[in-house]
Amino acid sequence: MKLSTSFTLLAAIIPYALAQSPEWGQCGGIGWTGATTCVSGTVCTVMNAYYSQCLPGSASSAPATTRPVSTPSGPTSTSVPAPAGTGLNALAKAAGKLYFGTATDNGELSDAAYTAILDNNKEFGQITPANSMKWDATEPTRGTFTFSGGDQIANLAKANGQLLRGHNCVWYNQLPSWVSNGQFTAADLTTVIQNHCSTLVSHYKGQVYSWDVVNEPFNDDGTWRQDVFFNVLGTTYPAIALKAARAADPNAKLYINDYNIEQSGAKATAMLNLVKQLIADGVPIDGVGFQCHFIVGEVPGTFQTVLEQFTALGLEVAITELDIRTTTPASQSALAQQQKDYQSVVQACMNVDGCVGITVWDFTDKYSWVPSTFSGQGAACPWDQNLVKKLAYNGIVAALTS
Ligand code: G3I
Repeated sequence: MKLSTSFTLLAAIIPYALAQSPEWGQCGGIGWTGATTCVSGTVCTVMNAYYSQCLPGSASSAPATTRPVSTPSGPTSTSVPAPAGTGLNALAKAAGKLYFGTATDNGELSDAAYTAILDNNKEFGQITPANSMKWDATEPTRGTFTFSGGDQIANLAKANGQLLRGHNCVWYNQLPSWVSNGQFTAADLTTVIQNHCSTLVSHYKGQVYSWDVVNEPFNDDGTWRQDVFFNVLGTTYPAIALKAARAADPNAKLYINDYNIEQSGAKATAMLNLVKQLIADGVPIDGVGFQCHFIVGEVPGTFQTVLEQFTALGLEVAITELDIRTTTPASQSALAQQQKDYQSVVQACMNVDGCVGITVWDFTDKYSWVPSTFSGQGAACPWDQNLVKKLAYNGIVAALTS
């Protein structure tokens, strides 16, 4: 074959090859300029206005726009158009929620490509500092407070027109050693907690929508975590912290925040009993945060029911640290399952009036906490390492527009 003939053939083949999206690949949606047909054995299916996807099924080569919307089983079947140009926060607000937000951290703020997304309040209407308001960062030595890191995030929220979640006042982790190893009497430690919560919450008075006043008080079996606070003060320490926080900023919503309370069981029951007791005792408590650090394919089916048990007490609830991890490198099928999982978690919040908002624990795999904690796992966020939206994003959109 002559060289010129080869080029002619190649030129004929390449556009055809580019016109075929792979299984699980994108094949249409607002703003999509790539292939609109799918490889044999898959069918281009409209998932929502932003996203059509090649799902396993009878082969076709027609573009998504001319194809009837298929209705696969499970949560990805929702196909509700969203207005062009909207982001997750805009969609959440249009659906009656207060915000869609993300955690962020100070070290990430020099990444211009990252902040271009973070600062977009159509995408994120709320931010949470992942580390810089914690005890080790704010009161590293007794009575000496440093707010520079927290202030940077608070100022960013203000500049971006985003709500701010304070995280956190009292937690067993990331404590300076003067607290974790302190030999306190009950009276001493009460003063230490009051001073820390009061100074921290006062500093951000008027700037914070909600505070995680108490973080992770329970073990997974529903018993109290044996930390310095419980060991010295027993079950009384949450009330000490909550009262100090209320006095410091009467308008901030005061939360207790935990993980593995999303499914019915001993830990959720322990949290329910704690907030019932606090309410009965007249202790200020406004909400419970469900962290939602999940695993692909293992989102608890009872989540909505649990949320409703808490809102039935007159509390608000929020998804505060959502991410859904998998084994890395993530397979296409895991990412497709992750899309369904994100959709079902967000849908649970959508179905509960008292669920005020959803926060992801950073939006990109580039800065996720997961790989450094769970070896061989990650890919947990709705944007990938390269700040490109994953299928998970479409799952969130589908729920927000349901
Ligand atoms: O600041 C030091 C730095 O000086 C040092 O050079 C570096 C070396 O490892 O460590 C830095 O501290 C790290 C800190 O994040 C700030 O980046 C810690 O090692 C690291 O353990 C810490 O991880 C944080 C983790 O909480 C600690 O438990 C994660 O970033 C943060 O995302 C994570 O957030 C928690 C929530 O607060 C509560 N719920 C669970 C969630 C995930 O673990």
